[in-house]
Amino acid sequence: MKLSEISSELGKEITVESWIIRMRKQGKKLVFLSLFDGTGEVQATLKQSTIGIDEFKPILDVFRGASIRTTGILKEDSRAPQGYELQVTSFEIIHPSDETYEQQVTHESSTDIKLSKRHIVIRGPKSSSILRFQSHVLHYMRDYFYSKGLEEVFPPLIVEAQAEGGSELFEIKYFDRNAYLTQSSQLYLEAAIFSLRDVFCILPSFRAEKSKTRRHLTEYRHVEAEGAFMDFEDLVKFIEEMIAYIVDKVIANDQDILKMWDRELQPIKTPFRRIKYGDAIKLLKDEYDITIPHGEDISDAPERQLIDHFGEPLVLHHFPTTMKPFYHKIDPEDKNLTRSADFLFPGCGELVGSGERETDIGSMLERMAKMDPPVNPEEYYWYMDLRKYGSVPHSGFGLGLERLIMWLLGVEHIRDITLFPRTVTRLAP
Ligand code: 4AD
Repeated sequence: MKLSEISSELGKEITVESWIIRMRKQGKKLVFLSLFDGTGEVQATLKQSTIGIDEFKPILDVFRGASIRTTGILKEDSRAPQGYELQVTSFEIIHPSDETYEQQVTHESSTDIKLSKRHIVIRGPKSSSILRFQSHVLHYMRDYFYSKGLEEVFPPLIVEAQAEGGSELFEIKYFDRNAYLTQSSQLYLEAAIFSLRDVFCILPSFRAEKSKTRRHLTEYRHVEAEGAFMDFEDLVKFIEEMIAYIVDKVIANDQDILKMWDRELQPIKTPFRRIKYGDAIKLLKDEYDITIPHGEDISDAPERQLIDHFGEPLVLHHFPTTMKPFYHKIDPEDKNLTRSADFLFPGCGELVGSGERETDIGSMLERMAKMDPPVNPEEYYWYMDLRKYGSVPHSGFGLGLERLIMWLLGVEHIRDITLFPRTVTRLAP
């Protein structure tokens, strides 16, 4: 039986399989265990007088980490964190652990050791709760997409041409030529709308980011969606509704995990506050004397300032044409601006990058030629064909899954969200 299922079994005899995550021996006749099986936790009491002298002995030689099958009566106990404890009548060690387990990693261990021993760290209930939460959030996300009629597709991760910025590309050997690991599946999703109309994918993206911040990985889970006949306003509304939906689902279903993280989450109000890029850099100058030359990225610190200024989710939109890739649609009302939006959130910074897509081949070719170094349209022959043969207004977005979890749970560092994080200096385990 799984530990998540035992609360309805009060007063009954149950058998559970689990790992020993904490143990306390009191003399040679009494042992207290904390058992965890990845779905729940329970405290167990083992008494020599109940179990039998010979049968009890093996527990005295056991170390933390061992796997164990225990049978006993589940009794109410207000002192136990779960409100009940297992009074064990018999047990069987499934596989022993080793005494060195104790020295593998502790709360006091350095970050480097914690990362090297990540396979041990994730055996703890708190790390486990993040991974479980991430799985739940993905479920809510997929539910939202399916409820809106989107279909899931699987674009390639090995690509020939860049989607975002040249400087952050991982180059790989691909037989006798070079290829790249994808930075975004957007361009392929744009092709897929001609087949399925509205699509999404949840895949890793790779960024050769040298920046060692608490919100950057070199491999992250990228949730991307693209919709045909969807303009900029439809897009922003779609994303706002999606985030509000996920928050509602988390509030309804994941209170136990929120509690573990001391997190009180409130339903989120839509529409979110909006500010144009131009107004944002003016606000930073006027209020905080931070100068950002028009057309330059708002880096980490000023971005945080902006989020703190409003203290709520923020849609930063209409970035200048010069600072965005050639696929962003130029705003017909101001040719210097694009119909693009980043969603900024407290605690995780930029959560979503989004925009309406350019459909005018002439404008795209002009911007490709102006890029430094210029982009060769032949490398994008198939992408240009999407414009040549019956294009439609369309829009889409990319959301960093780990950043969403950071914000929802209030976790400080992105590496704690990830099963096995990849950063500039970290490739193992
Ligand atoms: O803003 P970005 O670069 O947008 C794109 O890649 C678009 N082509 C997506 C699209 O429209 N389909 O990345 C999208 C999001 C960011 O807002 C951020 O949440 C996340 O991806 N992200 C990262 N997360 C973790 N580590 C990194 N190094 C990240 N870089 C981007």
